[in-house]
Amino acid sequence: MKYLIWVLLSVFLVSCSDDDYVAIENTLLTIEVPDNFPDLAYDIEANPPTQLGFELGKKLFYDGKLSSNGFISCGFCHEQSSAFTHHGHQFSHGVDDMEGTRNTPTIANMAFFNEFAWDGATSHLDLFPIIPITNEVEMGETITGVINKLIADNEYQQQFENAFEEGSVNAENFLKALSQFMVMMISSNSKYDKYVRNEEGGELTETELYGLQVFQQKCSTCHATDLFADGSFRNNGLPPNVQLNDVGRAEVSGSDNDNYKFKVPSLRNVALTAPYMHDGRFGSLESVLDFYTNGMVDSETLDDSLRTEEGIGIALNDEEKEGLLAFFEILTDETFINDERFSEY
Ligand code: HEC
Ligand code: HEC
Repeated sequence: MKYLIWVLLSVFLVSCSDDDYVAIENTLLTIEVPDNFPDLAYDIEANPPTQLGFELGKKLFYDGKLSSNGFISCGFCHEQSSAFTHHGHQFSHGVDDMEGTRNTPTIANMAFFNEFAWDGATSHLDLFPIIPITNEVEMGETITGVINKLIADNEYQQQFENAFEEGSVNAENFLKALSQFMVMMISSNSKYDKYVRNEEGGELTETELYGLQVFQQKCSTCHATDLFADGSFRNNGLPPNVQLNDVGRAEVSGSDNDNYKFKVPSLRNVALTAPYMHDGRFGSLESVLDFYTNGMVDSETLDDSLRTEEGIGIALNDEEKEGLLAFFEILTDETFINDERFSEY
């Protein structure tokens, strides 16, 4: 077992009220890295999650104050019941009902990744929230604007003070609290996980087992490890969306070699996260599989692994597709989507 243990280290914070002292105890939380997972990518020592930091982060995550109109919270687009994606929305839409150009990805297991957003616009989880907050079609706010609203709120002032040693309401603590909430969001209890870890409830049917084998042979070069994502940016042959002209990773790197490369998404809870791909173009997993067999277009940056002597694409017959669809279902983690620690109410 790989454990990161932060026990017995309690931080005592003392705050002064009129004539007596109120001591509030804050405890460090334990992050348990599942046996079948890679190591943490997040620098946990730089921002160790505590109970009160986590609770503050959760409150912020679900608070519309983070947006200009007071209604759009992080949780508005990242809904727990659909593994923290925006179910049924091809593109994100935020303040004033304006639409973005990208599909909302899951935010499970963020502690295991180094780069965020479909194009890797940010390489530190702590900095990520600045993007949706300041994006005019998402939350349409400024960080200063958010901090001023929080400063004006006595309850938040108290919570910041209790959660951090240097407890002022400022951007650094604000971002740290959001990260503390997000790094605790680990999804690792699907039927697949139980199968891999030889736990009760992990018996696979013949079709599921077959699907797993097909997946390992044909998909796991990119959807690698038990996160089902290798952290790389690749062009999987999607026909470019002419209207949006989204060049993916090249938006960040400025290099033509990165045109149409997007972050390989994790497939955890994939049965709950429709629609699919960076622009949400596919409404079902069946259409994703049809795309892999028949829908790819060639281009200079198409991933080499998708070229074969017979042409481009991944050949899948009906039986293999059926297996893969059954395999997708065993990636659903009911514990995670029902975990009250992460729930809005
Ligand atoms: C209006 C909808 C919307 C809101 C509000 C929103 N997000 Fe997102 N989120 C998205 C979209 C869309 C992306 C993908 C962005 C991209 O690739 O450019 C994303 C990506 C992310 C990612 C990166 C996931 C990955 O796998 O790379 C994280 C982390 C995240 N959001 C956290 C947050 C937090 C924290 C907040 C609140 C401060 C927030 N989001 C608010 C829609 C939203
Ligand atoms: C060459 C690397 C590569 C291979 C091989 C690959 N994928 Fe992907 N996959 C990607 C990338 C990159 C994306 C995101 C593309 C985008 O949105 O532009 C993706 C997206 C997906 C999505 C959508 C997920 C979401 O949340 O939107 C599914 C489902 C998927 N792949 C399943 C599969 C299956 C099943 C196979 C095997 C038959 C497979 N992939 C093989 C790279 C790959």
